[in-house]
Amino acid sequence: MSAHITVANTNVDMPVKEGTIGPSVIDIGKLYGQTGMFTYDPGFTSTASCESKITYIDGDEGILLYRGYPIEQLALNGDFLETCYLLLYGELPTAAQKADFDYRITRHTMVHEQMMRFFQGFRRDAHPMAVLTASVGALSAFYHDSTDISDPTQRMIASMRMIAKIPTLAAMAYKYSIGQPFVYPMNSLDYTSNFLRMCFAVPCEEYKVNPIVSRALDRIFILHADHEQNASTSTVRLAGSSGANPFACIAAGVACLWGPAHGGANEAALKMLQEIGSVDRIPEYIARAKDKNDPFRLMGFGHRVYKNYDPRAKIMQKTTHEVLSELGIKDDPLLDVAMELERIALSDEYFIEKKLYPNIDFYSGITLKAMGFPTSMFTVLFALARTVGWIAQWKEMIEDPSQRIGRPRQLYIGERQRDYVALNQR
Ligand code: CMC
Repeated sequence: MSAHITVANTNVDMPVKEGTIGPSVIDIGKLYGQTGMFTYDPGFTSTASCESKITYIDGDEGILLYRGYPIEQLALNGDFLETCYLLLYGELPTAAQKADFDYRITRHTMVHEQMMRFFQGFRRDAHPMAVLTASVGALSAFYHDSTDISDPTQRMIASMRMIAKIPTLAAMAYKYSIGQPFVYPMNSLDYTSNFLRMCFAVPCEEYKVNPIVSRALDRIFILHADHEQNASTSTVRLAGSSGANPFACIAAGVACLWGPAHGGANEAALKMLQEIGSVDRIPEYIARAKDKNDPFRLMGFGHRVYKNYDPRAKIMQKTTHEVLSELGIKDDPLLDVAMELERIALSDEYFIEKKLYPNIDFYSGITLKAMGFPTSMFTVLFALARTVGWIAQWKEMIEDPSQRIGRPRQLYIGERQRDYVALNQR
């Protein structure tokens, strides 16, 4: 199949490429050469930036697949490290492969002792995302032996290091912000229990991991592990396309994730629920969300790709109820506000017409807060979980023989060429 367009009397035939599932794409690579024109698509609403075998989303049907496996099945039956293996290698591990992978990850959890000093340079009130962005980038200054991206072994070592060390850095960012000593990783614990311990243990008493909370957080990590070519992943790919070292690329992803339209939405959603405060104030906020002259948006609602219920939000909602019940939180006013807000929004003409449904961030904040995390840590947890997705996408790009540096074009609307005017004549 091919697509035909006519541009200023020039007929152009462009090949159409078929995917396994989902929309086909028109390959416009030769368009400029043949017509002298670019395409224009700010926000990439109709533009595929790459081929990928990792994650598939059907936004109309509310389907999310990692390497072909539905997110619901992975979240229910698997654990986060199994998902990491799947995203990185393309297949679910055998029992032996899983044991080996878990062992290798848990043996790379410590960070260079000098990193402690690096942390001391931050103000205590720094946002943990600022600290995480800097400390992930700083890994490139500590692990020189895994920054040659042309060497597959170094690529894999860097990947394992990042998956293993990101919980340690995330927990350190938290500990530093509350003035508590860093807690070293404990290799005998599973990935998520180890992270909980690094966040909540103190040297003066025993810390017991609650297995239900650990399992719930592990599931939250699975839900956040990858989401195809979103803003932060595209940032990682673009940064990586120049040949930049892997730690620097992931730091770029962390920085991009921080924004409130992306990973920062979980923090913003909880703050919004707190601001609404009680069920009787919901109509006021719904009216504000619908008002074109008011910049307010319902945080945790809407998605560029999902025009149906975000499948992750459904699992998240269930997990929220499980965690609150396990922790004995019977009446959480924020949960009441969230559930009523969801009910009202889903029956409101504005939200129905624009296909705005709760996304993953709508319920995650309530759950993370119940677990004891402050709001400033929510996006850090998202970054922790998304690291494997970023790495899998970065590796896929580097290993693609047709990979070239990413270089979008533009429609220039500035001044035409003009002559410099001397300072005393302006
Ligand atoms: N509340 C009220 N109106 C909304 C909302 C919302 N949350 N989201 C979209 N709209 C309206 C928007 O005003 C626009 O209306 P109109 O067509 O009349 O101008 C229409 O819906 C389409 O919105 P858009 O901004 O063109 O859509 P987008 O695809 O560019 O943005 C989004 C997607 C997620 C940035 C946006 O829905 C949003 O800002 N949501 C709140 C932030 C949020 O929850 N983000 C987390 C996304 S999921 C996690 C992740 O991927 O990081």
